[in-house]
Amino acid sequence: MTIKAIVFDAYGTLFDVYSMSTEAERLFPGKGDALAAMWRDKQIEYTRLRSMCAMYKPFWEVTQDALIFCCKKMKLDLDVTAQQSLMGQYAKLPLFPENRTVLESLQQQGYKLAVLSNANTQMLDGVIKSAGMQSLLPHLLSADSVQKFKTAPEVYQLGTDLFGLPAKDILFVSGNCWDVCGATWFGYASFWVNRQGAPLEELGVTPHGQGQSLTDLLAFVAQQSDKD
Ligand code: LAC
Repeated sequence: MTIKAIVFDAYGTLFDVYSMSTEAERLFPGKGDALAAMWRDKQIEYTRLRSMCAMYKPFWEVTQDALIFCCKKMKLDLDVTAQQSLMGQYAKLPLFPENRTVLESLQQQGYKLAVLSNANTQMLDGVIKSAGMQSLLPHLLSADSVQKFKTAPEVYQLGTDLFGLPAKDILFVSGNCWDVCGATWFGYASFWVNRQGAPLEELGVTPHGQGQSLTDLLAFVAQQSDKD
């Protein structure tokens, strides 16, 4: 494996999407964690349904639909202010603490870096700017440009098209195991940031590398370059 470029998923990988539970807890005491978890699952479920049936709409809208459904299901009164406040969190999600240092190191080592996300460009731009990561992540690839969501191969192909490299020379990094599986099926070298110590999905895929935080990615990348 010769890694020449590294492509990162956004939510759950670079940005802590479950930090949403703090605002959810403020709005709905005692329900924050449950709402944040159900919202994320429903959001991903809707992306899959829409991709499978060619009923695309942007991730922002899918995310909002998922929030409305989850609040109905949990019998939470989502007024306009609460909705705006929760959706607004997407523009200012915190970066996982180790990520800036890791990305700086990878950039200094000469790797080309990009983000490849289901999020539409406006969402991605907002959160990358809010975290001050523009110079580290100049390439933002959005599923919106192909009107399908991961794990559709057309979305993963945005990375190979950008760098003009075969998938096997690009390392795809995600905190979401399903995303790592999709990327591996596409042909990428893959690294799973398994922050929660979750079991591997039963999809017959073994990521090329895995770790508990993005810091472990540095050791993996160094090992690969030693083998070359
Ligand atoms: C993304 C979500 C799926 O950034 O984590 O694409």
